[in-house]
Amino acid sequence: MKTVMIIGAAQEHCLGIERAAELGFEVFAVDGNPQAPGLALAKASAVVSTYDHEAALLAARSHIASGGRIDGVMTLASDVPLTVAYVAEALGLPGIGVESARLASEKLLMKDCFLRHEIAMPAYAEARSPADLLDFARQHGMPVVVKPVDSRGARGVQLIRSFEELESSHAVARQYSPTGRVMVESYLPGPQLSTEGYMLDGKAHVPSIFDRNYERLELYAPFIVEDGGEMPSLLAATHGPEVVDLMQRAALALGIRNGVIKGDLVVHQGQVKIIELAARMSGGFFGTLAAPVANGVDLIGIGIRLAVGERIDPAELQPRWQRGAAIRFAFPSCGVIGGIEGLERIRADGACRYAHVFAQVGDVIAPITNHPSRPAVVVAEGADAADAARHAKRLMESLHWDVKGSQP
Ligand SMILES: Nc1ncnc2c1ncn2[C@@H]1O[C@H](COP(=O)(O)OP(=O)(O)O)[C@@H](O)[C@H]1O
Ligand SMILES: [Mg+2]
Repeated sequence: MKTVMIIGAAQEHCLGIERAAELGFEVFAVDGNPQAPGLALAKASAVVSTYDHEAALLAARSHIASGGRIDGVMTLASDVPLTVAYVAEALGLPGIGVESARLASEKLLMKDCFLRHEIAMPAYAEARSPADLLDFARQHGMPVVVKPVDSRGARGVQLIRSFEELESSHAVARQYSPTGRVMVESYLPGPQLSTEGYMLDGKAHVPSIFDRNYERLELYAPFIVEDGGEMPSLLAATHGPEVVDLMQRAALALGIRNGVIKGDLVVHQGQVKIIELAARMSGGFFGTLAAPVANGVDLIGIGIRLAVGERIDPAELQPRWQRGAAIRFAFPSCGVIGGIEGLERIRADGACRYAHVFAQVGDVIAPITNHPSRPAVVVAEGADAADAARHAKRLMESLHWDVKGSQP
């Protein structure tokens, strides 16, 4: 039996571990959190930080030394392309290569590369100090986005509208960068898209385009916190080909000819611009759950088979049907959780395709400033995007949080 090594074993990775088993693969899973649910679900596992590529390789080698095998390496929702590529390269397995993985995990390197390839994106600069932020804002105007160079999950990503807020944003962003580096971009207003797809032999296939929901932008300002999204995107009809072209040029610029590509895009003044390309499926159940509900494309299965070197027929990336699918997250008020009620009722609802609460009774709900701090998710199906979004919203509203010491 072939074995796929999955980097990360959190809730969303469990979907990959289960799909691998359905396709006849064994899974060797690694995660730094010994409580990660996928570790017990996988055939074999090791407790290793997903960001520690050397330790992941040692774990892979010791799995092989003890009689196991590894035929491919992948991840799902974790932004760990370097770990995946490093282990794959060392073991002589398919992958995007360490060089491309490095470009995909460092936003400044990525954007320098995009700039050389004339790919449409916001103006950007490194900000070594708050003074650099001021210089950039004076030159390019407000608003700007201040963010860590090498984090993910919108951690420390801030939309800054005034010069007064600018100085303090530097320290906030820096705190989320493992290397203490900050960058700044022009903020591009416009509808935001999240895309899922693959590069196959140098060609981009993007079967899933979501309209992202930023209804809560003002509420959580200056942090940019998304509340899910829905597909099919209203903009896919007009901007679909432009999205595919941009993703293909961006992937090729990074040297990715075969592999998973996820896009953060914005339609700014009628033109699609790229905010970043991630060499993994998105976190937040877009690619793993909602996209297959909407169009039947088995994005996880394709990722597993690509990781072990199977040839993928591009026809497999063609939508098989068109339904609506939507994701919404929970945003309870801050305090200590005394109780959470309604999850079973939500799961029994005809429109619900997935519901999960990440928090437990006794946990503290801190102010929500990024994506990993949203404590519950639902994925709903509907006749179209708007119908699915209505269901997802209704289901999330029926989850009741008893939070003590509440504050707005
Ligand atoms: N320059 C920008 N213009 C408009 N929106 C932005 C910009 N930069 C970031 N965002 C928004 O913030 C989100 C998170 O920023 P991103 O750079 O993707 O960081 P992360 O790696 O944490 O996901 C993006 O998906 C997008 O919605
Ligand atoms: Mg992003």
